[in-house]
Amino acid sequence: MGSKVSEGELVHVFLVSFPGQGHVNPLLRLGKRLASKGLLVTFSAPESYGAEMKKANPKISNEPTPYGSGMMRFDFFEDEWDHSKPNGDDLGMYLQHLELIGKKILPTMIKKYAEQGSPVSCLINNPFIPWVCDVAESLGIPSVMLWVQSAASFSCYYHYSESLVPFPSESQPEIDVQLPCMPLLKYDEVPSFLHPSSPYIFLKSAILGQFKNISKLTFILMETFQELEHDVVDYLSKIFPIKTIGPLFKYPKELAPNDVQGDFMKVENCIDWLDTKSPSSVVYISFGSVVILKKEQVEEIAYGLLNSGVDFLWVIRPPTKVQNFDPLLLPDGFLEKSGDKGKIVQWCPQGQVLSHPSVACFVTHCGWNSTMEALSSGVPVLAFPQWGDQVTDAKYLVDVFKVGLRLCRGDRIIPREEVEKCVREATSGPKAAEIQENALKWKKKAEEAVAEGGSSERNMQAFVDYVRSV
Ligand code: UDX
Repeated sequence: MGSKVSEGELVHVFLVSFPGQGHVNPLLRLGKRLASKGLLVTFSAPESYGAEMKKANPKISNEPTPYGSGMMRFDFFEDEWDHSKPNGDDLGMYLQHLELIGKKILPTMIKKYAEQGSPVSCLINNPFIPWVCDVAESLGIPSVMLWVQSAASFSCYYHYSESLVPFPSESQPEIDVQLPCMPLLKYDEVPSFLHPSSPYIFLKSAILGQFKNISKLTFILMETFQELEHDVVDYLSKIFPIKTIGPLFKYPKELAPNDVQGDFMKVENCIDWLDTKSPSSVVYISFGSVVILKKEQVEEIAYGLLNSGVDFLWVIRPPTKVQNFDPLLLPDGFLEKSGDKGKIVQWCPQGQVLSHPSVACFVTHCGWNSTMEALSSGVPVLAFPQWGDQVTDAKYLVDVFKVGLRLCRGDRIIPREEVEKCVREATSGPKAAEIQENALKWKKKAEEAVAEGGSSERNMQAFVDYVRSV
């Protein structure tokens, strides 16, 4: 249908992503949704990440490709950064470098499109690259952010950046934090970047940088839905121009001949293996795209799983050249002992895995994408947060959404007996039934939010109407 439309006839939005899977996935999903509604979407990210995406997804094209009633194209920009060079994994240096390069290159790219008869009507970025707002401002284009974490985490960063309430500090590292319309957060349930002991100072300043620039945004789109976080969303909506539009993962598949995913690694087929398993019998384990567990922790998880007797599918990423860490080796003889009860992959199609009927529960680090994907697939969780917003998401998954059990708190190594006990509790018996029932309720609410007339779908349409009116 879209193939008859030419690029220049469509309203053009330009998306800029921070180079990380947890950021690319939701922004790309938003791009697809906007394209399906008739916009021309250019998806941009630094080439050092784009090159990996292209390897994993040969369908990625610079040419505008019909997508629903609109079009979508990729246009990565050269970031002149070799992540494997000495200091190449220094995120602080990279973020500064990216800002310098991005502020030079993006205006050129956007002006080029205007000269070609396809002017950009709106720039949309995700967190960690707040300077995209400055580019938009200098070009006189509206600027929008897709917030890729929870509304609750947003509220934490906002209250911290404005010093509105006391947060853990050097002198009081263990104080609890009470924010409006939220449950009391223990000191270790506040996004860990805000904790005085956090080593991730560059991520903290990048994320707070977004709050310094927040008044430049026309809209803040949020990857959550009204029904999930109603109190805090209502509260924040009185202060910021917020539109909840999630779960982006849940939107109906569009009729796109060239559908592309944002994976930075080739996905392995594990669906055939899941097909051989009984309904609700498999534990799925993944810690997302950046978390690295200690070797001792991996060993305890491995034996806990084995001793529970439950089938499992476990994503273990290979060591990357970017990060300097020991490869996560499974204990000797583990694979032989687990036999066909376990499958290890390097990367999987997580969305498909979570919607597979054999999957009983998800051991997750509670990244917000994994959280939303689990909730909207009706899969209960075992929360194993490590840092950042994951600790806040774990609190919500267990105590607010009530879809899981907490397996990990802080950086203590969880012994195999605890892993085994939690896996058993989450897969059979009364607690398993309770969290399963709650998970299915959230799945239904998520489906309703993105269906015709649902809260997120209405917000998405209102946003598209706004972009068309620019
Ligand atoms: C990062 C931060 O760690 C997280 O706290 C923040 O909320 C978002 O940015 P990440 O750690 O990668 O994200 O986790 P998550 O948000 O869960 O995103 C991972 C994405 O990779 C998910 O969309 C998931 O579906 C996908 N994935 C993961 C796969 O497609 N296959 C896999 O094998 C594993």
